[in-house]
Amino acid sequence: MSHLDDIPSTPGKFKMEKSPYIHNRLRWQSSIAKLTFWSFIFLGLILVFFFRSPSSNPLPQDPSRRSLRTDNWGGSAWEKRVRSSARVRSRNGISVLVTGAAGFVGTHVSVALKRRGDGVLGLDNFNDYYDPSLKRARRALLERSGVFIVEGDINDSALLKKLFEVVAFTHVMHLAAQAGVRYAMENPSSYVHSNIAGLVSLLEVCKSANPQPAIVWASSSSVYGLNTKVPFSERDRTDQPASLYAATKKAGEEIAHTYNHIYGLSLTGLRFFTVYGPWGRPDMAYFFFTRDILKGKSIPIFEAANHGTVARDFTYIDDIVKGCLAALDTAEKSTGSGGKKKGPAQLRVYNLGNTSPVPVTQLVDILERLLKRKAKRNIMKLPQNGDVQFTHANISLAQRELSYKPTTDLQTGLKKFVRWYLGYYSGGKKAAG
Ligand SMILES: NC(=O)c1ccc[n+]([C@@H]2O[C@H](COP(=O)([O-])OP(=O)(O)OC[C@H]3O[C@@H](n4cnc5c(N)ncnc54)[C@H](O)[C@@H]3O)[C@@H](O)[C@H]2O)c1
Repeated sequence: MSHLDDIPSTPGKFKMEKSPYIHNRLRWQSSIAKLTFWSFIFLGLILVFFFRSPSSNPLPQDPSRRSLRTDNWGGSAWEKRVRSSARVRSRNGISVLVTGAAGFVGTHVSVALKRRGDGVLGLDNFNDYYDPSLKRARRALLERSGVFIVEGDINDSALLKKLFEVVAFTHVMHLAAQAGVRYAMENPSSYVHSNIAGLVSLLEVCKSANPQPAIVWASSSSVYGLNTKVPFSERDRTDQPASLYAATKKAGEEIAHTYNHIYGLSLTGLRFFTVYGPWGRPDMAYFFFTRDILKGKSIPIFEAANHGTVARDFTYIDDIVKGCLAALDTAEKSTGSGGKKKGPAQLRVYNLGNTSPVPVTQLVDILERLLKRKAKRNIMKLPQNGDVQFTHANISLAQRELSYKPTTDLQTGLKKFVRWYLGYYSGGKKAAG
């Protein structure tokens, strides 16, 4: 026996009472009364705290969770719409769940899939990160092409399960995310909600679906972070993100690896490089530069240290769509079933860029010519809040394996964007931002 065994676990626990039995009994009864009294007080306090606490409020306060609703789906008419939208209409067609379908890239990808006869069902929470009326206009466009967008959140597992019960999707094109690098300082939890929790929620449902779908999803060029070696290659390090957005995309790539490894899900990550074009995102520079040049407002043009050029590998939306479709078409089947892996599955990552970075000043020159207006340029130091100095894609892997070959230069692509912009916001009918 060790000397430690002699010591009572609670000091004093085994001390003998010296007082008589009756005295002990009275003291015991009064202790019970005190204990009951304090228990009631304690319980009361817990109840008061619970009903006053914001987390018990049925309406979530966190803006990132605003759209997590479960009451606007279900019923036989709804199921019929879902089935009809996802019905494959061509031989060898695929049936795709497109998340983020009311978004910029999601709209274009959905239209392209539908056009070639694939079944497409959209899912989007229509959050107000940027003007939701633009998302609703994109939805109207998709409706005209026969694509139905279910309004819901990727964190709503009950909804996702229901969708997989109604349709045996062969593929998921996962584009729903909280985008933008600077907004992460304002609303960091929205990035965790959509890009991490939402991704896990989606993969959980995909891994249990029978059959499991193949998943193609949007990562980002921002995973290259502070790297200085150019052009960025898929083999380069991606462990020094410059923004929370980039960190959540990098986390997504690691999460994808896990689900591929454990459950046999076929997963392809696409690192998009600054996508632009008609129906684009109002938070992106080419979009709000156009708006502000037309309004005669000054535009911020960032400059790196020692007057260094800030440049982006701008990629036109149609080229990105071709890359997405090629990734879907070359995706192998997932190998698991019922949540169990049956064999190794495909895991891929590709850069989808344009291979020719353009200085932001040149972007403004082109916009000035197209808009026939002079921009009021406000040269500023590049803030250290997420933006990197340049992006430049090496696309040889995508070229080899997806036959990806971007064909639209910035001048041609911006011309199409400006034409759309002027038409969409014509005559001040709709105000951009
Ligand atoms: N556009 C680019 O330049 C670019 C560059 C790199 C990566 N990406 C990635 O490509 C994807 C598409 O980008 P985009 O430019 O079309 O952005 P977008 O913001 O226009 O589209 C994203 C859509 O997802 C929806 N969404 C967000 N969180 C959701 C949630 N929790 N549940 C359901 N829907 C949700 C939004 O309402 C939005 O309509 C994103 O994953 C983005 O991170 C885009």
